[in-house]
Amino acid sequence: MWTPNLLDYEGPIYEKIAAALARDIASGVLPPGARLPTLKALAAALGVTPGTVNRAYEVAQRQGLVDGEVGRGTFVRGSAVAPASAPAAPGMPPPAAADLGNDWIDLSIIKPNVHLQAGYARTLLRDLAETPDLSGLLDYTPDGGRPRHREAGARWMQAMGMPARAEQVVLTAGSQHGLWVAVNALTRPDELVLCESLCYPGIASVVLSLGRRLKGVATDDQGMTPDALRAQCRDERPALTICIATCQNPTAGVMSVERRERIAAIAREFDFILVDDDIYGFLAPEPLPPLASFAPERSLYLTSLSKSALPSLRLGYVHGPAEWLTRLAASVRTSIWMVSPLAAQLATTLIDSGKARELASTQRGEAAARQLIARELLGHHAYRALPASYHLWLKLPPHWSSGEQFAALARSHKLIVAGGDSFAMNRDGEGRQYVRIALMGPTREQLRFALTKLAGLLSTPDAAWL
Ligand SMILES: Cc1ncc(COP(=O)(O)O)c(C=O)c1O
Repeated sequence: MWTPNLLDYEGPIYEKIAAALARDIASGVLPPGARLPTLKALAAALGVTPGTVNRAYEVAQRQGLVDGEVGRGTFVRGSAVAPASAPAAPGMPPPAAADLGNDWIDLSIIKPNVHLQAGYARTLLRDLAETPDLSGLLDYTPDGGRPRHREAGARWMQAMGMPARAEQVVLTAGSQHGLWVAVNALTRPDELVLCESLCYPGIASVVLSLGRRLKGVATDDQGMTPDALRAQCRDERPALTICIATCQNPTAGVMSVERRERIAAIAREFDFILVDDDIYGFLAPEPLPPLASFAPERSLYLTSLSKSALPSLRLGYVHGPAEWLTRLAASVRTSIWMVSPLAAQLATTLIDSGKARELASTQRGEAAARQLIARELLGHHAYRALPASYHLWLKLPPHWSSGEQFAALARSHKLIVAGGDSFAMNRDGEGRQYVRIALMGPTREQLRFALTKLAGLLSTPDAAWL
């Protein structure tokens, strides 16, 4: 039974227990899916009252580290491996397989296959070293980034169908940072932020850590539904709403043009800001005008090169109405002072040489091939994916009661997948019956091996291994 040593901590006992819990989850002592001792058992072991343990578990639940259910107990959340000091950061990814040893296969992170990019990256880095005005790239930059780097950002956005202007672009260190910049610059503490009810947990981390309130709006196979959004606005108008309109993470939904128009119309009617996180826009089965283009006067368009080219560049762009730019640039300055001009130069070369598009199209082709492998091995299961999405969202067969449990079983076979609970923004169990499987990390052979294994595990009733 997990019995923490509380001597290392200070403060009230329930805080000590909560801190020990966070540390042991972060270090992997308590893996995802692990069942915590009952209130009575842990209280007896520590010589405290069950109420004290309950308070500690409530703290951990608020931090997104554990989930509790009357009658079933309290469990470590699926991918909640967060540093003990982190604030509420639901759904932090587990350690990358590379950090765990070579025999792990990590299907938990949506990313491009970087091995396919290594050749390009080598040339790019050599060319950077030969840049004639290298010293100009070694200095501090103006707010928002150097003009030519912002121009490249605008060109990348235009290639995604967004009528972007360089003067309205601000560089960010990737889209996660872009989300932080958006929420920090354009909302105030305690204001309401909306996103899809099943959504990328990084959004919750940003919104909650900045002290804003977050609500998930009901989603269907196209993402956020206009009816649910309107109902929410009547109840309480949000300050800002974040949508992943193309290749939604995790449901792989794509908003139709009509849906985009309706969401934009609701933003106008109720006067709130739209954030269009279009990081997966290039994976759309057919080109679609970005959601932000339907209400550009109140929208922030956000993208990065992490999924289409290289996550390690940490390079993203936000585009918004001119009157927001000072605030956006100030948020970049507050958080990181500036985006590295060296990374921005690499991104600019990638975009201007046409290589960024080439890389994106190579990755799309690779993703399509991997989706066929998934179809072959998991096709008898219910899942959602796009023909070239990097991931799939799989509904577990009824004999499985939770994605977190399934992820824990997969982990015991050295396979990492993301249990669906981490994506449920309202913490209401909406994702419980799902797992998200990302396809692009390993080699194709490893992927085949992993999916074959997962297919076998899916047919194992969870009671059998518990
Ligand atoms: C919807 C969404 N937005 C933003 C991000 C963060 O991307 P970046 O690496 O550019 O920070 C992710 C990463 O998975 C994502 O899925």
